[in-house]
Amino acid sequence: MRRRIIVLGSTGSIGKNCLDVVRANKNLFKVVGLSAQSNDGELAAQIAEFKPEKVALSNEPSWRRLRSAAPRRVGVLAGDSGPVELVETLKADVVVAAITGGAGLASVFAAVKKGIRVAIANKEPLVMAGGMIMSAAKKHGSTIAPIDSEHSAIWQCLHKERPDRVARLILTASGGPFLGMTKRQLAGVTPAQALRHPRWKMGRKITVDSSTMMNKGLEVIEARWLFDVPAKKIEVVVHPQSIVHSMVEFVDSSVMAQLGLPDMRVPIAYALSAPDRWPSRLRRLSVAEMGRLDFMPPDLKRFPCLSLAYEAVEKGGAAPIRLNAANEVAVEAFLGGRIGYADIPRVIAKTLGRNGPLKIGGLEGIMEADAAARETARGCL
Ligand SMILES: NC(=O)c1ccc[n+]([C@@H]2O[C@H](COP(=O)([O-])OP(=O)(O)OC[C@H]3O[C@@H](n4cnc5c(N)ncnc54)[C@H](OP(=O)(O)O)[C@@H]3O)[C@@H](O)[C@H]2O)c1
Repeated sequence: MRRRIIVLGSTGSIGKNCLDVVRANKNLFKVVGLSAQSNDGELAAQIAEFKPEKVALSNEPSWRRLRSAAPRRVGVLAGDSGPVELVETLKADVVVAAITGGAGLASVFAAVKKGIRVAIANKEPLVMAGGMIMSAAKKHGSTIAPIDSEHSAIWQCLHKERPDRVARLILTASGGPFLGMTKRQLAGVTPAQALRHPRWKMGRKITVDSSTMMNKGLEVIEARWLFDVPAKKIEVVVHPQSIVHSMVEFVDSSVMAQLGLPDMRVPIAYALSAPDRWPSRLRRLSVAEMGRLDFMPPDLKRFPCLSLAYEAVEKGGAAPIRLNAANEVAVEAFLGGRIGYADIPRVIAKTLGRNGPLKIGGLEGIMEADAAARETARGCL
């Protein structure tokens, strides 16, 4: 029987790569649900190819256009609650969470509560509510399968290992496009420059996050929850070639690494197949041609966002929610030309430093803390 799959954020970089994996394994999957924010043209093409039962589109004018263009048999859901409705109303075996930002939180939580596999690229919900998501997954029997290449690597290295035998997780970072820049040069970075990543082709927000190293900070918090390892045991190392996707050091001092060419279809396929593996026609890594691999410590002075993420996870409670919310507000403002590149860490640090309740309870409490932090961050722009 084919597995019934919902792809949330299907018109984005991860969503399209995921549909490519599905296309290559047509006999294994039936796409039942798709969602996007406003790209009705791409979603219409996906409907024609994959014939889902329902789709969701949150932007109202785009939703109107799609509703009149889509075949009658396809349900077209509207509004911000569309992704949650898709998850709650469709029978599915796996949900791919590939929406950008905190907007994906409610749908991730809804999928976890259904006890199905969640292949998760959308790291922000884990940053905001990792403890709650992981304990709900345990309670409802849901598997959270990471798509982020670093977390996929760690997941693979940890397979069948005893948790108490893990000494350290080592997350690799490409270092982004500004690895060699001075602080002064960084201050003049434009949105166009920040959107040119040397190794990965990704959505706009994560591309900027990679350049500031906030992406790595969010990944430290993501790893903390996915693998139940305290942040002080999670180290970041810059590895510009992006061949070693991450490593695990064990108590006997042995280090395991997972390697491969940078292609998101590999970790996406593994998140869907694990613990099995499917044959693929993707390009192979030639170790002999690889030449050298470089590793170096990150420069926290030039890239303060990484330190801010460690600070937030150390504080706990609402601090990671504030970090994430402030980052989303600041990146959007930077891309809109309203603040400079060096203002991104400034806005985050200010929002993080503001007093406010650290304790949070339940999904509603998290949403409230998120909304309050966004308000504070807007005030700091
Ligand atoms: N790209 C990568 O290689 C990569 C790697 C690891 C992890 N991730 C993570 O995966 C997630 C997606 O990244 P991406 O690069 O694929 O982003 P992206 O290309 O910008 O795609 C985002 C997708 O989510 C939809 N979307 C955006 N905001 C939404 C909202 N408020 N409500 C509902 N849908 C919304 C978009 O719809 P429209 O197209 O209509 O705007 C699109 O389908 C992020 O959390 C990122 O950190 C990405």
